Formats: sequence, C-alpha cells, structure tokens
Amino acid sequence: MTAARLAVVGAGSMGAQIAMQAALHGVDVALQDVNAEQLERATSSNRGHLERRVEKGRMSRADADASLARVRTTNSLEEAAGDADFVIEAVFENLDVKRATFTELDRIAPKDAVLASNSSTMGISKLAGATSRPDRCVNMHFFFPVLVMDLVEIVRGPETSDETVDRALGMAREMGRTAVVLNKEIDGFIVNRILHAASQEAYRLLDAGVASYEDIDVAVEKGLNWPLGPFRLGDFSGLDVTYNARLHMYRTTGDERYRPSPQLEAKVKAGKLGRKTGEGWYIYEK
Ligand SMILES: NC(=O)c1ccc[n+]([C@@H]2O[C@H](COP(=O)([O-])OP(=O)(O)OC[C@H]3O[C@@H](n4cnc5c(N)ncnc54)[C@H](O)[C@@H]3O)[C@@H](O)[C@H]2O)c1
Repeated sequence: MTAARLAVVGAGSMGAQIAMQAALHGVDVALQDVNAEQLERATSSNRGHLERRVEKGRMSRADADASLARVRTTNSLEEAAGDADFVIEAVFENLDVKRATFTELDRIAPKDAVLASNSSTMGISKLAGATSRPDRCVNMHFFFPVLVMDLVEIVRGPETSDETVDRALGMAREMGRTAVVLNKEIDGFIVNRILHAASQEAYRLLDAGVASYEDIDVAVEKGLNWPLGPFRLGDFSGLDVTYNARLHMYRTTGDERYRPSPQLEAKVKAGKLGRKTGEGWYIYEK
C-alpha cells in the first residue's frame, strides 16, 4: 500500500528533513510544529539544501520548486493529520510529550492511519498504549541528516501488526530510503548497538594505554573503512551525547560493559564536547 498523504509532526532537525525527503519522492506532506518559527526555519533550511543541489547541477530548479511546494506547513495538528494515511512523529525526545502527541493523533487521524515514531530510544510499546490502535503503531527510526543517510530501522512492538510493518516498509521505499525490520524492541535498535559496542571497545583500548585515540581512529578508518573513527565520530555527535548514552545504559543495566570511560568523562566534565564547543578529542576552528 502506498501513502498518498503523509503528516510529519515536529519540524526540528529530523522532522524537517523527513518531510523534505518524502516530498522529493513525490509524496504530499503536511509538516506540523507547535512552534511557528521552527516551521519557518525548517522551510528555509530545506530550501537551502535543495538550492545547493540545483547549484551543483544535481537537480533542476523546477523539480526543487515542485518538491518544496509539496511540503505544506501548519501549526494545526487537525489540519496536518486529519486526512493523513500515515503519520511520522518527530517531536522532542520526551515520553510525556510523545504520549500526549500519540493520544491527540489517535483522536485526529483517520482510524486506519499508521502512527510511526522516529524516537531513538523509546520502543513503540511506550507510546502505542496511549492510543486505541496499538496494532497500527510502529517505530521508524531515521538517521541524521535524513537527506543523506539512507537507512530506516522499522521496529515492531509487541502489538504491531504485520500489515503495519508492511505499510512502514512501503512508506520507507516510497521515500527512497532503505529499511530494515527489527522483530523485537531493543534499546539502541541495530545500528546504535553495534556502534556502541565498537566504540566502547575503542575506549577500552585507549584507557588501557594500548594506543592513542588518533591511532585508534586511523586504524578504524583505514582498516574497517569507516568514514570517521570512533573518536572523530564522537566529536561530531557531541561527547556529552556519547557519555550520557553510556551512563544511561550503565545505570539501567548495571553491566560493567557500559561503564563510561574515565577519559570520556573527563572530557565532558571539562566542557570539551567536540565540534560544537571547538574542542573534544581534536581541536576545531570556531
Ligand atoms: N537528532 C538526531 O540525530 C536524531 C536521530 C534519529 C532520531 N531522532 C529522534 O527524532 C525526534 C526529534 O529529534 P530532533 O533532533 O529533530 O529534535 P528537535 O529538538 O530538533 O525538534 C523537535 C521539534 O518538535 C517540536 N515539538 C515539540 N513538541 C511538539 C508537539 N507537541 N507537537 C508538535 N511539535 C512539537 C519542537 O518545536 C521542535 O521543533 C526525537 O524523538 C529523537 O530521538 C533524532
């Protein structure tokens, strides 16, 4: 089944580009946010991305204009989701905000519409219970920046139906994205779990004095063909994000494998968070 009408709720870093990616593939999208300025920022940022494609000759101006016109922005959830076949929620990563959004969406969206969440950490079972259609709720986890990153992780909750998984797969395909299906809810899904395990090993090697962080990065970049080694990648994502994810896992599981590296903790305590502060493992020009 294809979704002719997509609603994206939340026009932040993720929602804005999820909407744009779908529109680039011909899907009509309503992009909703409670914050009007955020909608303007989303539109102007998307316009900038497409402008660069036009300048590089990768897209015609007519296609860029038509794609931009396919994203309708609104503050009203009724207007965005009232006639949607498929909704992707990308609001703040806060359980109460997300549950309230799902309750509202359940009231507003047509009964057979799929409600998908882009949450990075909340399995859909935490949100589906706020609706009367848990079988039509699913995780669709996109990666930042959505206009560049090809993957979507579709995660089946305990009540998600096969039809909903198929519709999520269809939506991802329609948006020009490659999807994988997780048959069980699990913290970190697939990608962040594997990334976490690999980078945690890199920190162990550093803390044990086996090699410098620069050499570990070079080894991973040249030997595994990762575009960025774990320390450069940490600087890019923000070392506070890396640290807090480990701390969360360590506290919730008590498993020593997740204990954050003392050297990572020292960086965070010193406010050296990576690119965004000008220094993390490496030094960056402001
Ligand atoms: N940033 C990432 O790298 C990334 C990657 C994958 C998934 N995610 C997930 O995507 C979701 C959004 O993340 P983000 O980075 O885009 O956040 P963000 O803070 O950039 O954007 C969130 C947006 O939601 C809006 N919002 C808040 N409450 C709302 C409501 N009730 N109704 C409508 N809009 C509302 C805010 O105004 C804001 O524009 C989170 O669940 C996050 O876990 C983020």
